[in-house]
Amino acid sequence: MTMSLETKLVVSSIALLAVVSAVIATATTLFLQDFLTDRLDVQVYSAAHRSTRTAGPSNQPPSAGEVSFLLTPGQAMETFGARVRQGVIRRAAVLTDPGSVQDVPAPPAVAAVTGEPMTVNLGPLGDYRMVGAPTRDGDTLVVGLPLTGMRTTLTRLIVVEAAVTLAGVALMAIACTLLVRRAVRPLGRLAATAARVSELPLATGDAVRLARVPDVDTDPRTEVGQVGGAFNRMLGHVETAFAVRHESETRLRQFIADASHELRTPLASIVGYAQLTGRSGEPHGPQTAHALGRIRSEAGRMTTLVEDLLLLARLDAGRPLDRLELDLSPLVVNAISDAYAAAPGHRWLVSLPDQPALVVGDADRLHQVVTNLLANARTHTPPGTTVTTTVLLAPGQVSVRVADNGPGIPPDVLPHVFGRFARGDGSRSRLAGGSGLGLAIVSAVAAAHDGRVEVTSEPGNTVFTLHLPALPAL
Ligand SMILES: Nc1ncnc2c1ncn2[C@@H]1O[C@H](COP(=O)(O)OP(=O)(O)OP(=O)(O)O)[C@@H](O)[C@H]1O
Ligand SMILES: [Mg+2]
Repeated sequence: MTMSLETKLVVSSIALLAVVSAVIATATTLFLQDFLTDRLDVQVYSAAHRSTRTAGPSNQPPSAGEVSFLLTPGQAMETFGARVRQGVIRRAAVLTDPGSVQDVPAPPAVAAVTGEPMTVNLGPLGDYRMVGAPTRDGDTLVVGLPLTGMRTTLTRLIVVEAAVTLAGVALMAIACTLLVRRAVRPLGRLAATAARVSELPLATGDAVRLARVPDVDTDPRTEVGQVGGAFNRMLGHVETAFAVRHESETRLRQFIADASHELRTPLASIVGYAQLTGRSGEPHGPQTAHALGRIRSEAGRMTTLVEDLLLLARLDAGRPLDRLELDLSPLVVNAISDAYAAAPGHRWLVSLPDQPALVVGDADRLHQVVTNLLANARTHTPPGTTVTTTVLLAPGQVSVRVADNGPGIPPDVLPHVFGRFARGDGSRSRLAGGSGLGLAIVSAVAAAHDGRVEVTSEPGNTVFTLHLPALPAL
């Protein structure tokens, strides 16, 4: 059974206290019982001694007869006396008032009493401690004193012990609970700090300020304080590590952004000079013409790549985008007409809602997202493929769905299709010559608009869905 530390400590202390109390109470009771029995035995002996000295019938009232020894001065009230002759009880009586005896029935055990004290039950009179003493005329006088007094004392002792133990246990339970609760409270604060840290979005890689254990719980003189101190040192260490990581990531992003930016100018020059050379009108040999064509197309690809890298670096750095109210439907229609122009061999279907699909965002970036999705449906599928683009309105959400019935995304690419430079290495993808940044941009732009993008793909049915928050109704 799992118990909290608090319960465990309280329960074990109480159990310990109860056991110790029980042992002490039992020992005390047994000791007292022995002590009282011994004392009673001494009294019984002296009563027997008195009795044998004056056992003669002499000057006693005749009614006392064979038990007249009970009337000897000094005999205590309720003293039991019996005269036994040759194993037969002649008469048995109890001293009731001073000077008068009352006959009582005596069990045969009385006849067997010897010089050693023994306990005999006298029925309604209860247990008696008895001893036998011989008289001069050969009889045996059995004299006894009741055990009731001793028993009452012992019972009372047990009751008092039980009451004191119970009260002690109850007090201990309260005191223990309060003390233990106080002692474990710092652990609760430690756990709360840990919980707060565990809720922080550490995976984003941003520099974070982690919560700390309060100073009262970091006193190195206490065990909890040592844990608290170690905890804080660990948090400090993690915080530093995150700061260093964030710093290096920022530097890397900045480097990529700077590098892409710097590449744009020479690239623009290359493209410009290639075009100039092409248009100069000077005759070129077929080889030069081919080389110029390759320079132009590769420079174009590199421009796209550099622009993509720059955009990703800026999105990573959290550069703010335009936040303008816009309708997605015309944007989608524009993108589809571009796609149709680029690939008239595909079937381009579109389904738009009756109402405007209003969102808040950056028109250029969103256009690029739709273009990238359509470009994929165009470049990674054979001619004749049907591409269906649907704009959907749902409460609080606008979605754009691009579905094609092409061959589908290779299963090994699908799980990380939104990653950077994720590309299927199928011949078609290689032919398409993409860099693998298209979907990474889609995903980053969606995230920057507080939206998301999903994909499902199987041969004959590939569906990308972009979800954006709808323009809040005013
Ligand atoms: N509609 C689709 N049908 C089949 N495969 C697809 C489809 N869309 C994406 N893929 C696969 O996912 C990969 C990643 O797509 P992504 O757009 O990120 O890169 P790319 O198209 O190869 O290059 P880029 O878009 O940067 O020019 C592609 O290489 C392709 O293998
Ligand atoms: Mg692509």
